[in-house]
Amino acid sequence: MTVHFIGAGPGAPDLITVRGRDLVARCPVCLYAGSLVPPEIVALAPPDARVVDTAPLTLDAIMQEIAAAHAAGLDVARLHSGDLSIWSALGEQTRRLERLGIPYTVTPGVPAFAAAAAVLGRELTLPEVAQSVVLTRTSGRASSMPPTETLEAFGRTRATLAVHLSIHALARVVAETLPHYGPDCPVAVVFRATWPDERVLSGTLADIETKVAAEPMERTALILVGPALAAADFRESALYDPDYRRRYRGLDG
Ligand SMILES: C[S@@+](CC[C@H](N)C(=O)[O-])C[C@H]1O[C@@H](n2cnc3c(N)ncnc32)[C@H](O)[C@@H]1O
Repeated sequence: MTVHFIGAGPGAPDLITVRGRDLVARCPVCLYAGSLVPPEIVALAPPDARVVDTAPLTLDAIMQEIAAAHAAGLDVARLHSGDLSIWSALGEQTRRLERLGIPYTVTPGVPAFAAAAAVLGRELTLPEVAQSVVLTRTSGRASSMPPTETLEAFGRTRATLAVHLSIHALARVVAETLPHYGPDCPVAVVFRATWPDERVLSGTLADIETKVAAEPMERTALILVGPALAAADFRESALYDPDYRRRYRGLDG
């Protein structure tokens, strides 16, 4: 018996990996993390599978579900939205599984920040404009931020910021980033990327709050900040430069 943690992707049901889809289709137990996991993916579970929405459950109750499957020798597909490497509660579940000696695997998924960039048709790293992407959030009711991980500190780098779980704190995001990026810095707010009700609002640090106030967005939205979002005047990457000597083109060009 194995627990298979699977990233379900950002929303569109065809953005799960082939491996993840096949695991869901063959596991007799499917535990999924609430409304951010698309119903079409949950529906891939076998017709007689035990299917449980874990959104209203405590961690103890989720572990009871897994322990019952373990006792019965039934594999579990454990679905979380996006990818499992960020804000998925993977760490606290695998820690308990390790203590119980229950084996698990992890299958990655398309994270929301990558889906949002795809919706915008943008690369988040551009030569000499931004070479880092900071995946971050502001503090919330359930999680405080480590004291060194402030938007102010990340803003000093002028990297591209992908601010999660923070649409309710847009004013704070703007106030803390504006001193470093300036009022003309491009911002995009992507609401429910790849879901049928996806929406995008693009603006600058000076006007994004007004734009969002006119078309309120709740909860499942990502705030992207940084010059790479609108830069047109950037150097082409050296990778495809005719003078760039690299292994696959041969040292003689
Ligand atoms: C609990 S985190 C889950 C992140 C997820 N594990 C991932 O890999 O993207 C939820 C936050 O991710 C962002 N998010 C998740 N799905 C999204 C989507 N389809 N469009 C925009 N933002 C999304 C929002 O900021 C939301 O508040």
